[in-house]
Amino acid sequence: MSDKVYDVPAAWAHKAYVDDAKYKAMYEASVKDPNAFWAEHGKRIDWFHPFTKVKNTSYDPGHVSIKWFEDGITNVAYNCVDRHLAERGDQVAIIWEGDDPSESKKITYRELSAEVNKFANVLRNRGVEKGDRVTIYLPMIPEAAYAMLACARLGAVHSVVFGGFSPDSLSGRVADCASKCIITADEGLRGGRKVPLKANVDAAINLLPPDSVDHVVVVRRTGAAVDMTPGRDVYYDEAAALVTDECPAEHMNAEDPLFILYTSGSTGKPKGVLHTTGGYLVYASMTHQYVFDYHPGEIYWCTADVGWVTGHSYILYGPLANGATTLMFEGVPNYPSVSRFWEVIDKHQVNIFYTAPTAIRSLMQAGEEPVKKTSRSSLRLLGSVGEPINPEAWEWYHRVVGDNRCPIVDTWWQTETGGILITPLPGAIKLKPGSATLPFFGVVPEVVDAEGKVLSGACEGNLVIADSWPGQMRTVYGDHERFEQTYFSTYPGKYFTGDGCRRDADGYYWITGRVDDVINVSGHRMGTAEVESALVAHPKVSEAAVVGFPHDIKGQGIYAYVTLMAGEEPTEALRKELVAWVRKEIGPIASPDLIQFAPGLPKTRSGKIMRRILRKIAEDQFESLGDTSTLADPGVVDDLISNRQNKR
Ligand code: PRX
Repeated sequence: MSDKVYDVPAAWAHKAYVDDAKYKAMYEASVKDPNAFWAEHGKRIDWFHPFTKVKNTSYDPGHVSIKWFEDGITNVAYNCVDRHLAERGDQVAIIWEGDDPSESKKITYRELSAEVNKFANVLRNRGVEKGDRVTIYLPMIPEAAYAMLACARLGAVHSVVFGGFSPDSLSGRVADCASKCIITADEGLRGGRKVPLKANVDAAINLLPPDSVDHVVVVRRTGAAVDMTPGRDVYYDEAAALVTDECPAEHMNAEDPLFILYTSGSTGKPKGVLHTTGGYLVYASMTHQYVFDYHPGEIYWCTADVGWVTGHSYILYGPLANGATTLMFEGVPNYPSVSRFWEVIDKHQVNIFYTAPTAIRSLMQAGEEPVKKTSRSSLRLLGSVGEPINPEAWEWYHRVVGDNRCPIVDTWWQTETGGILITPLPGAIKLKPGSATLPFFGVVPEVVDAEGKVLSGACEGNLVIADSWPGQMRTVYGDHERFEQTYFSTYPGKYFTGDGCRRDADGYYWITGRVDDVINVSGHRMGTAEVESALVAHPKVSEAAVVGFPHDIKGQGIYAYVTLMAGEEPTEALRKELVAWVRKEIGPIASPDLIQFAPGLPKTRSGKIMRRILRKIAEDQFESLGDTSTLADPGVVDDLISNRQNKR
């Protein structure tokens, strides 16, 4: 923890939408009378029929129900595109920067409108209607934005699956929401390497019952020859040549679903987080404006992938609803060189830059020179998201990247929250490196102890949110009971975030990381149970337990304890085979960093694996293993310690 405080620069306090006094007044108003507050701010988007009801939410056990603006009628694509045409039709909506620095493209709002309408017509011609689910498995190309907005225009529910997921993971997600249509590309391109997206889609469909998927729309990215199944697969450009660029925006109820996004939890398969239309857009656009202090004409760049919630809310929906210019980057931070981010900032004169701590830490390793050789004079604000940012990385980001000039907004939120919940507002809130600081308007964080007692003042415990905000997820797709169980049963009457947190004497929140069996690897959320079930699916593995361990670059690495079937030899070759196996089963982001072959795992007499002990061993904290007397065989612990794998 750092005790340094960075004051709000004077220029910021004057120019920003919100200064200290205004933050306090607005926050106060938002929690005192949420109905009045959100009735006013709900008007920031256009409604075909205005809402008359604002907040109708209950966290009561057994009756959790979340509705905002429930009788309003609108359309998200209309708000992100059409409503800007009169005033800013010729303004750039999306700057696309390709993987190869020689490739980039600017798309105006007028062009975006034509593209989205065409894409919507292509989908409509394939029978996609309001309420249908469409899976999008695309690289970071403009068509990803067109496809998402096209779904929103038709009232279809998109489920974007990150291009780094395996065919297995993809098929599970297609099956869970019964998507009849998949949108993909021939290949993706990242860091000069090709990703066989269409081949992955074919492999995923092969894992499903016959006739599960009716249509595959293939965008040509690299032009590679791919297998096309007649009657099912169509090239996007060929289909788009046959349609007009006019497609009416469906009238959607505020509570109609907008998208599903699968995310990992402590147990079981990834769950489909469901977000709806009105509240989500109001919240994404409002946070985008205030947190990034976005002013018209500015160039804004969020480096996330649209496969994650950050890409949904802060590359696409928030910025476009605000009529912003948003940059979409296909590549990676270190290709062709570690100066890439900073070169893109200069090339497109980026004013606001939003990235993840893992990227900052890895670029930090390359030293200051690759940053300093670029100008970055256009920058005025920096952002961080996805995991706790350690004070060293924060300071480097501030001093080297931002030349001590740009405030950093460390934004805490989750797939489930739809938008940012705890964050500084740059003109209002003093910064402390490593703290996400204070709640956004309408957000009521509380810190509770293990029994659910609400702690006051400076304290440490688990982070819950006491009341609803418009961007909150509404349910787990197809499983409302799991929604209640996962988020509202640990501390009845409150939304449990799964995060631990400290609050200091100034009321600042310091997120300490997950307190459940979720780990955060390079800002990617991973359920340890998912990696375990991939490992035990290998014929030579009898049992596996997976925990996180501190990793200099990734934040957390994946540490797997593996017990082999009787008679199997624990060889280096098998270790490599298991890493490759998990990559194939889930995707590269789930590759274990360390695998320890363990003849036995520490279990209670009732057979439950004591993960606490495994975590401590992986963290090198042999002295604080705690009570091991309840173990069925305390001897296994000595073996685990003496064979602990070294960190890379
Ligand atoms: O543990 C918190 C961490 O990321 C989790 C949410 O992951 P995901 O749903 O994938 O969304 C990531 C992007 C919003 C949280 O439970 N997390 C996210 N942002 C921060 C963070 N931890 C600390 N500080 C943050 N700023």
